[in-house]
Amino acid sequence: MPTFTFTLNGEPTTIEAPADLPLLWILRDHLGVTGPKYGCGVGVCRACTSHLDGAAFSPCTTPVAECDGATVVTIEGLADGDVLHPVQQAWIDEDVAQCGFCQPGQIMAAVALLAENPNPTDDDIAAIENVCRCGTYVRIRAAIKRAAAAG
Ligand code: FES
Ligand code: FES
Repeated sequence: MPTFTFTLNGEPTTIEAPADLPLLWILRDHLGVTGPKYGCGVGVCRACTSHLDGAAFSPCTTPVAECDGATVVTIEGLADGDVLHPVQQAWIDEDVAQCGFCQPGQIMAAVALLAENPNPTDDDIAAIENVCRCGTYVRIRAAIKRAAAAG
């Protein structure tokens, strides 16, 4: 079986796996990184949203071979030690989460959006495709705006 190496949340990581195995299975089942959630497995719900070389992506539809040599960040890698990322803090301040299942993906999508667009409009935020079955969209928007205002 081939071997792949990538940086995961700041740590060099090497894994032996079939080249077409989606990264989400490696993260959750082989590496115990369970922040990225399995919702649909086909790139629709975005519950698994993480960052690949700084951009939001869906590890459930990304073969591990595409991550070779890349930098992967999951929700586990967002905080700086005990200091939360500003978007995580905004999430707490706005009390966004309900059941919580979609929330790691929502936060990772929000961080990627703000990195590209520090002052997103309501329409920009609505363009985030992550699904929340609990319907926390109003609080998600408030948290993103709070994080944007905090700069
Ligand atoms: S589990 Fe990855 S998009 Fe749904
Ligand atoms: S908080 Fe329950 S699915 Fe989003």
